[in-house]
Amino acid sequence: MFGPTIYQERRKALLSRLDHGIVLLLGNEESPKNYHDNTYRFRQDSNFLYFLGLDKPHLAAILDIDAGTATLYGTDPDINHVIWMGDLPSLAEMAASTAAESSADFSELPSALADVQKAGRKIHFLPPYRGDNKIRLHQWLQIPLSELGGAASVPLVQGVIQLASSKSEEEIAEMEKAINITRLMHHAAMQQARPGMKEAELAGLIEGIALSHEGDVAYPVILTVNGQILHNHYHGNVLQEGQLILVDAGAETVNHYAGDITRTFPVSTQFTTQQKEIYEIVLKAEQDSIAKSTAGTPYLDVHLSAAKIIAAGLKELGVMKGDLDEAVAAGAHALFFPHGLGHMIGLDVHDMEDLGEDYVGYTDELKRSSQFGLRSLRLGRALEPGFVITVEPGLYFIPQLIDLWRSEGKFTDFINYDALEAYRSFGGIRIEDNVWITADGPKVIGEPIAKTIAEVEALRQS
Ligand code: GLY
Repeated sequence: MFGPTIYQERRKALLSRLDHGIVLLLGNEESPKNYHDNTYRFRQDSNFLYFLGLDKPHLAAILDIDAGTATLYGTDPDINHVIWMGDLPSLAEMAASTAAESSADFSELPSALADVQKAGRKIHFLPPYRGDNKIRLHQWLQIPLSELGGAASVPLVQGVIQLASSKSEEEIAEMEKAINITRLMHHAAMQQARPGMKEAELAGLIEGIALSHEGDVAYPVILTVNGQILHNHYHGNVLQEGQLILVDAGAETVNHYAGDITRTFPVSTQFTTQQKEIYEIVLKAEQDSIAKSTAGTPYLDVHLSAAKIIAAGLKELGVMKGDLDEAVAAGAHALFFPHGLGHMIGLDVHDMEDLGEDYVGYTDELKRSSQFGLRSLRLGRALEPGFVITVEPGLYFIPQLIDLWRSEGKFTDFINYDALEAYRSFGGIRIEDNVWITADGPKVIGEPIAKTIAEVEALRQS
């Protein structure tokens, strides 16, 4: 974790944005996988990490808006904890490490909340996403489970987003570490892939690299010869000459900052001509989008510009036709690019998604589109210095979607369905980097990861 004053200052900044009452921040508990003591790897809540930094289960905090203080709730380890888990910090030590003004046993939290309610003070809490915290809030605050999401505090959500959207220098340093580990993962996959291997061998190899740096993967590894399936977690295919492998994988550092990188490379040591043609379109869209990701530019505009580059590239190949401005406005390109250009990234790979994607990525003036493709754009609002975003255009040939649109006679003015047949079994290509928006322009975070055709082929041949 960072030094205590960082967390104290973050809490002070949050409280200054709120009027009265208290903020209740709940940490996460251990989460059983198949029985109580066999748990998933522990992952602390990101908001709790942001404001307290403490990476242990069974913690909560009350931030008093009027007094400007933090009370940490937890338990002191007893001899049983020591026997099974080794030496653990005391509650007072944990409170000191985050500069909390006081601490109390977790069992006292319900009555402390009851006192706040009796005094008629507002209790601000964030939208809960785990079952155990939902049940606690329901029991402690007497809010029906089905109404908890709506009862979460919008001013608190907005305050957290305002603060956490802009990354500090120490956070950027953590994100650089995440990308540099992620780079090792991608380069290992590019160097070690061989025809005849199973996807799972490579997926396990790169996941191991993330774990060997004391962290974790920031999200389940996507490593597939079926890149047209966007979130494909199946790793049972055998790699064959002529196929493409799409790897969308990122490391999470020991301090829980995420990397999210995608590269696509051939199972053979070289791309085919057809693969090169599609790859160059995606690469152009990615590089142009990075250059356009400047402070003040709505990310929606960058997304639409990437869509036009993809449509123009496909028109050159005879797959799209007609007026491209009209095609993109109508959403015809989404047959090939059905997702958004990117999202914020930080402590969460989709940063702050638990707080509500539209609060993070849109504003009162800019609402999310309902159009197919555009509705999956998680970030539309104007970029600001300090944001860290992903830039991840892709170009996919999804046979089922092609057949559906063709059978519906959809966008026949813009799509040449006959020409498309030559790409039916192509798969998909996505290229993704993580970009820090600064007053001096966009900066790709971390050491460069092989990306041009020449760089990728050089690694495949090494
Ligand atoms: N890289 C996975 C995702 O953005 O959903």
